[in-house]
Amino acid sequence: MLDLLIHNATLPDGRTGMGVAVQNGRIVEVSAALTALTHTQTPAQVVDAQGLLLSSPFVDAHFHMDATLSLGLPRLNQSGTLLEGIALWGELKPHLTFDALVERALAYCDWAVAQGLLAIRSHVDTSDPSMLAVQALVEVKKRVAPYLDLQLVAFPQDGVLRTKGGVDNLKKALSLGVDVVGGIPHFERTMADGAASVKLLCELAAEQGRLVDMHCDESDDPHSRHVETLAYETQRLGLHGRVTGSHLTSMHSMDNYYVSKLLPLMAEAQLCVVANPLINITLQGRHDSYPKRRGMTRVPEIMAAGMTVAFGHDCVMDPWYSMGSGDMLEVASMGLHVGHMTSQAAMQQCFDAVTKNPARILHLDSYGLEAGCHADLVLLQARTPIEAIRLKATRLKVWRRGQLVAQTPARTASLHLGGRPGQTDFLHRR
Ligand code: FE2
Repeated sequence: MLDLLIHNATLPDGRTGMGVAVQNGRIVEVSAALTALTHTQTPAQVVDAQGLLLSSPFVDAHFHMDATLSLGLPRLNQSGTLLEGIALWGELKPHLTFDALVERALAYCDWAVAQGLLAIRSHVDTSDPSMLAVQALVEVKKRVAPYLDLQLVAFPQDGVLRTKGGVDNLKKALSLGVDVVGGIPHFERTMADGAASVKLLCELAAEQGRLVDMHCDESDDPHSRHVETLAYETQRLGLHGRVTGSHLTSMHSMDNYYVSKLLPLMAEAQLCVVANPLINITLQGRHDSYPKRRGMTRVPEIMAAGMTVAFGHDCVMDPWYSMGSGDMLEVASMGLHVGHMTSQAAMQQCFDAVTKNPARILHLDSYGLEAGCHADLVLLQARTPIEAIRLKATRLKVWRRGQLVAQTPARTASLHLGGRPGQTDFLHRR
């Protein structure tokens, strides 16, 4: 017997009237005109999608779960800069407890699931030799595993070379259950140290067979060119498709000639890229008067060069960012606006940048809307991916391995217009 059959759905690729059949936590069939009547097996549960969008879940390729929901502890960021955020996180660290870290992270994961966000790559600060945050997030990863894939990156926030014992701390985090090798070359003491950190961290990843995801060139400084070293080391060590450059905001400010040389080198290394539009637009450009730079990396150009690009949330209510709710459609919307990605094709790419692209970056197993994939699905109150971004569409139902894990009532406003009663759901009717 089938566990679940969803029919009359629109898929992100534009196919309408589609049915999706689920058995034992996996999608077993995706086809047009598939209904409870046409299927040979009786489904335990039938859902009529009523022509609305059925998508694979949202994936966040860049987050900081050790800092999330700590806003105001011990104080607020006054300048709004990245560097004050790092200093503020340093003030908070001595006051962190295991229980508080776990509680905040679990609360955020509840928000995520409610928003159809079922996989998150989170950086965890490894600068503290006590490994408190690492142990807390490894615990969270275990606890949320039934409903959310949490991938952890060993992130030396204070610089792997700049901090005494930084390399040993990072290795220790990896031995405790952290998955991916991280870095922050632009925060090392010198450009030379930054480049040396990229080399040693990529070598460590190659040795241990791990993925790499570095905060790289998160700066308005056009001379911050660690991405060049990252692409070079990826190429040299044969890590193609396994290395991600996160942020790359300096590329926004680089001159076009240099970028014309850089992009093919990045593409040759099959570098993956994560831009974090909500954070880039607020943290970058802080030293500018007018005009103020947007700071987000060159997303359309990097996509056009054939690389996989995702939009990450990065922060929610922490020392760097006071806003956010785990809504990846808000992230996609900001990326669309900041990147001038307003053509129909580009808006569709913005949806991909919070779904299938980050899934590829995380190397998620069995992600997708095909027979054989995990039955992880989100039914949205929208008819197309573009409409979903426009409306930050309500996640009507969220399934994990075929089981319903969250649902939200449809958004409908009742109208009282001069005695003419009515209602609207904000969907565009053509
Ligand atoms: Fe980050």
